[in-house]
Amino acid sequence: MLKNFWYAVEFANAVTRAPKRVTCLGQDFVLYRKRDGTVVCLSDLCVHRGAALSEGTLVGDKIACPYHGWEYEPDGACSKIPANPEGRGIPKRARVDSYPIREEYGLIWAFLGDLPEDERPPIPHFPEHDDPSFACVYVEMVIEANYERTFENVVDAAHTPFVHGTRFGNPDKPQIPDYEIVQDDWSAIADISLSPPPARGLWKRLYKEKPEEVLTTNGWYLPNIVKLHVRLPFGDMVLYDHNIPLDRNRTLVKIVGYRNFFTGKWADRDARKRIRGILLQDKPVVESQRPELLPYDLPDELHLRSDALQVAYRRRRQQLMADGWWVGDDEQMPVNGKRGSATVIPSPARRENPELARAWQHRARGGTPMPAPKKAADGGTEKE
Ligand code: FES
Ligand SMILES: [Fe+2]
Repeated sequence: MLKNFWYAVEFANAVTRAPKRVTCLGQDFVLYRKRDGTVVCLSDLCVHRGAALSEGTLVGDKIACPYHGWEYEPDGACSKIPANPEGRGIPKRARVDSYPIREEYGLIWAFLGDLPEDERPPIPHFPEHDDPSFACVYVEMVIEANYERTFENVVDAAHTPFVHGTRFGNPDKPQIPDYEIVQDDWSAIADISLSPPPARGLWKRLYKEKPEEVLTTNGWYLPNIVKLHVRLPFGDMVLYDHNIPLDRNRTLVKIVGYRNFFTGKWADRDARKRIRGILLQDKPVVESQRPELLPYDLPDELHLRSDALQVAYRRRRQQLMADGWWVGDDEQMPVNGKRGSATVIPSPARRENPELARAWQHRARGGTPMPAPKKAADGGTEKE
């Protein structure tokens, strides 16, 4: 799992003035809207006794822990400890990580990492979103598989005639022509001609003559998004598929699906049903893959020319791992597990203020050096 990226962690309309727990990279976060409508994302782990802030309540723009009522500001600093007598100070260590947020394309994006703003990889551009000729639906589903398996599945054009032969892809024409990849640091995209899906249901009305081939654009945007653009004879269908790592073997897939045909609200249900249908076809196959985790070394699986997009991903991932952007080895995923310590993804404030970072309560995970345990100024002891 890669830190230092913007992750779409929730649909925007699911985030309100009621605290909402979301999970990503094996860590829980709480999301809520401030009174001005902007969204806050904090680590869901209260530094006092580890209760979930998402079970708490909002006090203006602050969130109060459900256990002893500590109140945290949107920047993560605790500003009220009800048990303290009047005039007693608040320990500096009383804070939680707060993560930068952006709201784009009907999604809430949290930056899960500690990079300063100008070094952060971009959020990909979805040009269809502001194009009035496109309608949009949102779909989600949990898949019991590692997110890199589900991610590679959507990049994989060669499986479509076999897994989706009834919907999309033609079992009589499974060949994948060699394709060119256009790649930069954060994405790899290719145009691939495929035999089109057979017309079913509503789409039959639009099919006059089935063409030999349709041009698809397929590819990935780091850390976990796959774009699939299918140019059907009657219009375009563009899916942005987000593979959110809940933990190492569970993935929440969230899809934003655009279409420029049947754009009326009446057709949304059909569009959602088609997307769910595709996911349900992928689910058992992806859940059966072994090993569950994507191999690190390229020779550990056999690759064909038609797997070039996946190979490009695995190579790029190796570079980012070497740069220390990887989190999620077994011992580093304790938040939802049964382990004796709690760690969190370091937020930008730790890097901006190293002195503060050393005073932080929960150990950062994913490469940030751990200071030696010391006696804290306020009488407590540093704990892991
Ligand atoms: S556990 Fe949150 S205030 Fe005590
Ligand atoms: Fe698939």
